Order: sequence, then structure tokens, then C-alpha cells
Amino acid sequence: MAHQITFLRMVLVLLLQNSVLAEDGEIRSSCRTAPTDLVFILDGSYSVGPENFEIVKKWLVNITKNFDIGPKFIQVGVVQYSDYPVLEIPLGRHESGEKLLAAVGSIHYLGGNTRTGKAIQFALDYLFAKSSRFLTKIAVVLTDGKSQDEVKDAAEAARDSKITLFAIGVGSETEDAELRAIANKPSSTYVFHVEDYIAISKIREVMKQKLCEESVCPTRIPVAARDEKGFDILLGLGVKKKAKKRIQLSPTKIKGYEVTSKVDLSESTSNVFPEGLPPSYVFVSTQRFKVKKMWDLWRILTMDGRPQIAVTLNGVDKTLLFTTTSVINGSQVVTFADPRVKTLYDEGWHQIRLLVTEQDVTLYIDDQQIENKPLHPVLGIFISGQTQIGKYSGKEETVQFDVQKLRIYCDPEQNNRETACEIPGFVSRMDDFFPKWCPSTFKAMSKIHMPTL
Ligand SMILES: *[C@@H]1O[C@H](CO)[C@@H](O)[C@H](O)[C@H]1NC(C)=O
Ligand SMILES: *[C@@H]1O[C@H](CO)[C@@H](O)[C@H](O)[C@H]1NC(C)=O
Repeated sequence: MAHQITFLRMVLVLLLQNSVLAEDGEIRSSCRTAPTDLVFILDGSYSVGPENFEIVKKWLVNITKNFDIGPKFIQVGVVQYSDYPVLEIPLGRHESGEKLLAAVGSIHYLGGNTRTGKAIQFALDYLFAKSSRFLTKIAVVLTDGKSQDEVKDAAEAARDSKITLFAIGVGSETEDAELRAIANKPSSTYVFHVEDYIAISKIREVMKQKLCEESVCPTRIPVAARDEKGFDILLGLGVKKKAKKRIQLSPTKIKGYEVTSKVDLSESTSNVFPEGLPPSYVFVSTQRFKVKKMWDLWRILTMDGRPQIAVTLNGVDKTLLFTTTSVINGSQVVTFADPRVKTLYDEGWHQIRLLVTEQDVTLYIDDQQIENKPLHPVLGIFISGQTQIGKYSGKEETVQFDVQKLRIYCDPEQNNRETACEIPGFVSRMDDFFPKWCPSTFKAMSKIHMPTL
């Protein structure tokens, strides 16, 4: 099995290098291709040392390999700084990944003091300002010590120019307040700490996911006190206008929509997921239904109507199917057949949550973990087809059902924050690590326990 997986990863690398273009030259959209200007601002001061600087270069190469480099896709620039900043690689200089990687490999370590503020201002004036593309702009600032100049003004000027800043602090000499001043808010998303340069490879995957979220998930969904990056699919498909009837999930005040067979909840994928989906995401849907056939709660079709991604409810054998792309056959389907999946078919309200990662997919029903299934590596999606909800499998006919929520969260951590409080009778789960509270439960409890004064 381990051999098989290693082999699959090799196949993936080969395929991804060659198969971004397919089907009449149409591109598979994903983080690999989402148009982005990405600038790395690397600390080249004395404290780093030549050996560690080589590690940083390798790390940069590893991250850059995840992207398709080119004028239509991602462009990478590099600034090295110590007392003064040096323009190592201008944005858009290299039209292929290979040339860019070679250029990163031949950067020479500077040595000197640490003037981080000056370096950020330089990236703004000489790299970003020279790029005329209208797209996602990201700067990743790497430092291993306190800056000898002010970082705040330069970082704010960059933010004013719509540049998103990440700050990575290496070792114990960095100052947390400074990293926070450089990076965007919230710091939990945009600031990283690693103990030393060897450990920097540990944040490669999370960096890849975070960079991807910036370019692929531009919209924010208000959830509790936070704004989560993601896609509100009900909103994207215009459910408010199309489904006229509202229903209340009593005893809560939460409203849902009644979808009848006359409603068509479809939209061009290019309008809903213009750059595809990130490598990891959370699908959440709350619904009730009576239909006993096989239907797609959500699906992304190719132009000729084949499902690329789908969450399918099989009312015949009461299972749940997840379809996604695959490097093997173009497509893969996993079936969740745990006996607890049957509860979805009891005609009541239930929340389905799928945590999709690069390795596997985990099903949760009403905030309870049900089953985990491995996935083969996936490909990007073609965005020329339709995105639909509530359709019989293989047909255009709409299923009659009620829906309250249907979203994609781009941050996989949202899986730990999401509650199922909209489900009537849902009791919040007390968990030492991730306590979840429903506002209504909390109110009810305080009524019981609080003595009247
Ligand atoms: C780069 O990737 C290679 C292969 O996956 C890995 O062995 C190495 O540790 C990575 N280096 C860094 C610095 O991320
Ligand atoms: C490839 O797809 C075909 C049908 O579409 C299926 O029968 C076959 O099992 C798949 N192969 C793999 C390796 O998944």
C-alpha cells in the first residue's frame, strides 16, 4: 500500500506538470493556476548564516513547485534583504517554473544587518508597483531577528495597496509584536513561528494551503464573530430569489428555504468557483428531504454534464457518496455506508459535513464524526460547466427538499469551529479542546442556573 501511494504521488507530480491543459485546451482551475503575484522577502542578515540560507532557498523551491508559473497564472518575485534590499527576481521575469527554480537556486547570501521595513517598502515600490496585473497580491516576509528599522508603516502601505502579508519568524530572536505588525489580521492565520531553519519544512503544507486560500477564496462568510473565507453556495446560486417559500426550523428562529421541483438552482461554475477549490476545504449542508431516489445535493459538472465533484444521497440503500477528481481515472467516488448514515433519511433536519483534505475525506453528521475514507490525489476542476444543488443524479430535474445552509469553508480548521446549532433539538457537544456553544442553549442554560437578583 505504501508503495502504491508513493507511486501515486509520483504519477501525480508527472501529471500535474503536464496535464494542466486538457479538453480542448481548457484549463483545470486550482491554486496552481489562480492568477497571483507572490513575492518572498528573505532575511539575508548575518544571523542566518550561509547554510540556513540554502535551506530557505530549498523551501522556496518546494513551495514554488506547487504553482504554474507564467503570465496568466502565478508570478513569483524574490527580495533578499540585510542592511539594504536586493532585487533578486523581479515579478514575471521567468515564464516557466524550471527557469524560476534555477534562478532561486543561484541567489547569493548577503550577510549584514536586518532592515525589514525597508525591504517591505522596496517590494511595494519595485515589484508590486511594476506589475499591472489585477489579481491577488501576496508578500511572505521571512525573518530570524528583530528589525533594525520600523516595519509598521511599510506594512501598512503594502496593505493599502491590497497586498496580503504573511510573516514567518524563525528562532527565538524574533519579536512577536513585530511579526504581528507586519502580517495581516488575524495573526493566527498570517503569522507563523518555527523554532529553527530545519523546522521550516514543517510549515510548507500549511503555507501552501494558506497561499491558496488567498487566491482561490476571495469572499468572506460571516460566521459568529469571525469572517471565514469560503463560498456560500446558496447565495451563489441565488436561492433567495428562486425559492420563494421560507420555513422556520422551530424552536429556533433560523430560516430555511423550500426548494420545489419548479426551481432550478444552477449557475455557471466560472461565476461560483472562478479559480476552483483549495486543496483542503469543509463542505457543510443542512437539509431535510423525503425523496427515496439517488440525488446530488451539490455537484460541479463538466461542460458535457459529467460530475467532477458531487455530494450524492443514495435514498435506495441510504448511503452517502462523495465524488471528486482523481489523477488516476479523472474521477473517484467514495461511499459512506456506516449504519449511522441512515439517520439522514429519517425526514428530519440534519447537518452533513465533509472535511476534504489532500489525503482523505471525513464525514460528520450533526457534528458527530462518522467515517473517514482515503482519497487519491485530485486534479483541478473545469469551470466551463454548471454548479448545481438538489438535482437527481444524471438528470436536470430538481429534487423537492428543504435547505438551510450550503457552504464551502476554505480553512479546514473551520471543521473544529462549526456547530450544528441550526438543527432543532441539537445539543452542543462539550469538548475539552473545542467547546462549542449554541447561543440558544447558552441562553436556556443561563435561565436555569442564574439566580434572579
Ligand atoms: C523540500 O522537499 C523535499 C522533498 O519533498 C524534502 O525532502 C525537503 O525536506 C524539503 N525541504 C524544505 C526546506 O522544505
Ligand atoms: C476507472 O473508471 C472506470 C469506470 O469509469 C472504473 O470501472 C474503474 O474501476 C476505474 N479505475 C480505477 C483504478 O479507479
